[in-house]
Amino acid sequence: MKILLIGSRGQVGQALLATLPAIGTVTAWSRADCDLTQSAQILPQVLAQQPDVIVNAAAYTAVDKAEQEPELAHQINGVAPGCCPRPTGPGGSSVWGDAGALLYGLCV
Ligand SMILES: NC(=O)c1ccc[n+]([C@@H]2O[C@H](COP(=O)([O-])OP(=O)(O)OC[C@H]3O[C@@H](n4cnc5c(N)ncnc54)[C@H](OP(=O)(O)O)[C@@H]3O)[C@@H](O)[C@H]2O)c1
Repeated sequence: MKILLIGSRGQVGQALLATLPAIGTVTAWSRADCDLTQSAQILPQVLAQQPDVIVNAAAYTAVDKAEQEPELAHQINGVAPGCCPRPTGPGGSSVWGDAGALLYGLCV
């Protein structure tokens, strides 16, 4: 199983990076690999990896700055996950975690 881990340098990402290899082959992305503020680039970059599963551990977590940067927070936590490919066939999707962290299987 090919697992794409987005946000691999964060706290959650690091924990997942230590455990996910037990269940699949992990491609670990940092912001340098995929900047979630660049909506148009997300889908082609993800599809190029042909993952079976995406684990998104990236998030805007600067809660003290969120009121000053609402658009950036919405982009990273709200818009960017929606730019990833959606499961389209059997297998469906299972959402895990809170607003900034989700996991779902792909049928691409
Ligand atoms: N930590 C916990 O105990 C915990 C528990 C339950 C749920 N969560 C949830 O899990 C999520 C992650 O939390 P965390 O504690 O791991 O946060 P974190 O340590 O702040 O990590 C956030 C990650 O998001 C990445 N990121 C931010 N902006 C990005 C962008 N524009 N493009 C690509 N990547 C970007 C960061 O990359 P850079 O390193 O390059 O900045 C970083 O790796 C949040 O939604 C949080 O609410 C966390």
